[in-house]
Amino acid sequence: MKLLITTCVVCLIIVLIGAIRCFADANVPALKDALAKAFLIGVAVNDDVVSGNDSQTTAIVEKQFNSITPENVMKWQFIHPEPNKYNFEPADRFVAFGEKNKMFIVGHTLIWQNQIPGWAFRDDSNNLLGRDAMLARMKDHIFTVMGRYKGRVNGWDVVNEALNDAGPLHKSKWVETVGPDFVQKAFEYAHEADPNAELYYNDFSLDKPAKREACVRLVKDLKDKGLRIDGVGIQGHWALSYPSRKDIEQFINAFAALGVKVMVTELDIDVLPSATQYMGADINVRFELQERLNPYVNGLPDEVQKKLADRYAEIFAVLLEHKDTVSRVTLWGVYDKTSWLNNWPIRGRTSYPLLFDRNYQPKPAFDAVVKTAQGSE
Ligand code: XIL
Repeated sequence: MKLLITTCVVCLIIVLIGAIRCFADANVPALKDALAKAFLIGVAVNDDVVSGNDSQTTAIVEKQFNSITPENVMKWQFIHPEPNKYNFEPADRFVAFGEKNKMFIVGHTLIWQNQIPGWAFRDDSNNLLGRDAMLARMKDHIFTVMGRYKGRVNGWDVVNEALNDAGPLHKSKWVETVGPDFVQKAFEYAHEADPNAELYYNDFSLDKPAKREACVRLVKDLKDKGLRIDGVGIQGHWALSYPSRKDIEQFINAFAALGVKVMVTELDIDVLPSATQYMGADINVRFELQERLNPYVNGLPDEVQKKLADRYAEIFAVLLEHKDTVSRVTLWGVYDKTSWLNNWPIRGRTSYPLLFDRNYQPKPAFDAVVKTAQGSE
């Protein structure tokens, strides 16, 4: 009898908690509604989300976001793995998912020096291609990929990460084969391939003055040459203390002055200690690094959770103040479990950079964003 009563009480409590959660959920607006008057709110998705294999995440994306970016499936490595062989299926699913949900669909990314197979820059004898041959290959790739989704993908990251931190272009295979005007050529071909698509330049650390200025020159140059460029995406792989509010504002103002849109395209806020000096290491085989670089394996302490929420609030407050220039903010992932930061710059950490936790629940950072949006109306 005692057992029966205890069981009933426990059940009642569970039902009550569920009801309270539902009620609370019903009263919290979705991100896309809270931010409707400001800018698009997007998210990077992988194939599990799009195909419904990770159905809880699919439900979050459909409810909360009005724009999507493919985390990987449109990168050269995946969509064009071999010369003359394209793998369109996952990208087709991605675009169909966005259309079904009436989302603003972003293509990421056409021209980048990473996640591209080595053969792309070489001929059949394994020699580096010359300028003309490489330009022909670039044009063919852009026309094939953009052509397939013409009129369906709303905007493209045409070139990704061409600048280095000190300003000039990276010494990439693109520069080596085509030359420094590969960026212009990519924008030229992209506009030809789909004249109605928005075209963006996308990069990280654009909040750093030298890189920001180099990017300003690059955009000006494209415009002076009469090429179409609609916006600049700053990736937004940020941390609790970086970048400053002032640097974010200066970045926005610099591009507002050029009349292009600004987007934060890959937002996540890292709360873990910086590990860039151990790039590529695996935490599981470097035990001495574990305690220092992977401190929150068993959960995020409340005070760090709060810092993360405050930081998200701060960032969204700045972006909302500049909503005339900022056209979209895209989170680089839906929930902490699948964030790329669990495995970058070193593998095997437990990271907490996003708005939903490992159990698909909204974090205090989520509430902070909604509250900031409501307060700015
Ligand atoms: C990352 C993905 O999130 C990972 O899954 C993949 O293994 C590597 O690339 N800058 C970009 C994104 O423009 O495409 C990168 O995405 C993160 C850095």
